[in-house]
Amino acid sequence: VISGRTAVLAILGDPIAHARAPGLVNAALAERGCDAVLVPMHVASDGLAAAVRGLRMVRNLKGAVVTMPHKTAVVTLLDEVTPEGRQVGACNVVRREPDGRLVGTIYDGDGFIAGLARAGHGVRGRRVFLAGAGGAAAAIAFALGKEGAAVLTIHNRTAARAEGLAARVRAVWPRGEVRTGGPDAREHDVVVNATSLGMKAGDAVPLDVGSLAPGTLAAEVVISDGPTPFLAAAAERGCAIHHGRPMLVEQIGLMLDFMGA
Ligand SMILES: NC(=O)c1ccc[n+]([C@@H]2O[C@H](COP(=O)([O-])OP(=O)(O)OC[C@H]3O[C@@H](n4cnc5c(N)ncnc54)[C@H](OP(=O)(O)O)[C@@H]3O)[C@@H](O)[C@H]2O)c1
Repeated sequence: VISGRTAVLAILGDPIAHARAPGLVNAALAERGCDAVLVPMHVASDGLAAAVRGLRMVRNLKGAVVTMPHKTAVVTLLDEVTPEGRQVGACNVVRREPDGRLVGTIYDGDGFIAGLARAGHGVRGRRVFLAGAGGAAAAIAFALGKEGAAVLTIHNRTAARAEGLAARVRAVWPRGEVRTGGPDAREHDVVVNATSLGMKAGDAVPLDVGSLAPGTLAAEVVISDGPTPFLAAAAERGCAIHHGRPMLVEQIGLMLDFMGA
């Protein structure tokens, strides 16, 4: 029951109606017995700065989840960003301190690793093929380095973006082998779709499906009710598959802890 004492959390996105975090977060808050509620806030890009300025003034606001397309833009609006957020260049959660200061971080990478771990899959010493070089891919790339993957091959439609991400990851992960490559995922233990392909029915697969060896682990970031085209193709090739939802589910607890909820 919402009362005058109830703390407020927000989620900022555009669009917001499809967001899955509100349901998950509010269920988690109830489970924790926390007197707080998360409210979806539909904020367009040209209103983000003003919205964030306004949130500083809301004294019963504990923080905000930040989703597409604001994860990168929000970084410049905050007072403090964790090393993870600075590396990736994006934040997906912001905490409001009692004095109105805003501190941001990103849990996409940790959430992805934790989701795999809960399903019994480790990445230490593994050869990982990562399709994509956007925000989710960057968060996962840095997390793979932190977790001690042996090889990271980044493949992206825009090759220059893959090169840029590889260079940034190499700089903080000197012992791993970080390279860029084409769509052939042969000789990798784990193959990840971290592009947005798969959000729409009939989307293509962002890598060469014929290169997926049986026994490879195919992991998805796109959240969908059934298997995405990538997971369906991988299953057909005899790969183990891992859906996109656990990456988000694992982040909920981390985000609530970060916001002090
Ligand atoms: N499960 C979770 O918890 C979770 C968390 C975060 C994000 N996600 C999901 O991850 C996906 C990516 O999000 P993001 O924030 O990383 O997006 P983003 O920063 O916009 O990056 C999009 C990526 O997809 C690629 N891409 C887009 N359209 C393509 C196409 N037609 N063909 C080939 N590649 C294409 C882009 O390649 P270019 O560089 O060439 O444009 C880029 O690598 C979204 O579906 C999002 O919902 C899930």
